[in-house]
Amino acid sequence: MSKARQTVLVTGGSGYAGQFLVHALAEVHTVHYTFGTRQLTSAPTTAVAHKVDLATGDGLQEVFDKTAFHVVINCAAISQPGLCESSPDVARAVNVPIHLVNCILRQEQSNGTRAALIHFSTDQVYDGSHAMWREDEPCSPVNTYGKTKLEAEQHILSRLPASFPVAILRSSIIYGPPPPDPVSRALFLQFVASAVRGGALTTFFDDEWRSPVYIRDLERLVSRLIEANAALETRKPTTSDAAGVTAAPTDGVPGSENALFRVAWRQRVFNTGGPERLSRVDMARQVADALNCDYSAILPASTASVNRGVASPADISMDVSRLTEELGFHTTPFNEALREIFPPQPVSAT
Ligand SMILES: NC(=O)c1ccc[n+]([C@@H]2O[C@H](COP(=O)([O-])OP(=O)(O)OC[C@H]3O[C@@H](n4cnc5c(N)ncnc54)[C@H](OP(=O)(O)O)[C@@H]3O)[C@@H](O)[C@H]2O)c1
Repeated sequence: MSKARQTVLVTGGSGYAGQFLVHALAEVHTVHYTFGTRQLTSAPTTAVAHKVDLATGDGLQEVFDKTAFHVVINCAAISQPGLCESSPDVARAVNVPIHLVNCILRQEQSNGTRAALIHFSTDQVYDGSHAMWREDEPCSPVNTYGKTKLEAEQHILSRLPASFPVAILRSSIIYGPPPPDPVSRALFLQFVASAVRGGALTTFFDDEWRSPVYIRDLERLVSRLIEANAALETRKPTTSDAAGVTAAPTDGVPGSENALFRVAWRQRVFNTGGPERLSRVDMARQVADALNCDYSAILPASTASVNRGVASPADISMDVSRLTEELGFHTTPFNEALREIFPPQPVSAT
């Protein structure tokens, strides 16, 4: 598969997902990233950092003025539902990428480079009223975070013409190793691991389901989308360009995985989860198994027993068949990923 070098901008490159993407993509591509408050100390030396305020757009146009981007990956967000609930205006200003879309449109007008956009959305666009959501079902988020993220999707799809390559990844909980630079919020997997290792009784919900996704799968998925974009013939839309993006077999491998991924740029919205529907208790038990701990710290509880101060959808497990069947892309089962993250320790001889 061709690995044509692309110039890529990762917004929110200092966040959890953004950091992994910056590191993985810099091995192949020219990577720029934005941060709001925390410039990375660990970033690859080739990665170019830009401080911006995505709520106001301050600094963003200057980033685009200096560099033409082939791909923009939008990982920036106010991603904590509690913060979104207490500061809805700030959440909306950051999460709905008005300024970013302006810059992408202006870039094409000014120098003809059409940037493909990979936008991170969330499973919280679904209301949680049943299991295994599909992308074409109506969305009715139950909290401000989900509402701003749904508005972001609608904003992108309504403002970027159909001819623009856009992939909206509705991500479930993202888990993996600790990031190279610390982030300012608790990380799901590390919280669970510390609870089951520490042994203090910790409440886990047995009536809230998710399809957690491994960060390494997101790295692979984003890399494949970028490779496919490199193989696209990008050009300004014409009136006869009804289908939008033209998938030109410029990589010389028709029918290859790359060809499948070129089609991804027309499909646009993908549930991006792991292959399973897991309750919080299921996840905690699998982490305990991976760490060779017993289940004594895991206290199953109902969501009704705790006031979290923000509504949380009950069941937003996702059907990921669009990824698996249309792209041939398979995500990693939770227990397999855990074996990679927490490899079994050799038993020391006594
Ligand atoms: N993590 C998950 O489990 C999960 C699940 C579903 C969907 N998602 C989505 O996936 C994406 C990545 O999530 P994540 O967990 O990596 O997020 P994160 O760790 O919370 O990082 C958020 C990023 O946004 C940046 N940011 C926030 N406000 C900003 C502002 N005003 N100006 C400029 N930058 C700003 C932060 O910059 P600084 O820190 O430098 O200020 C940081 O780089 C988000 O869109 C999120 O909604 C995440």
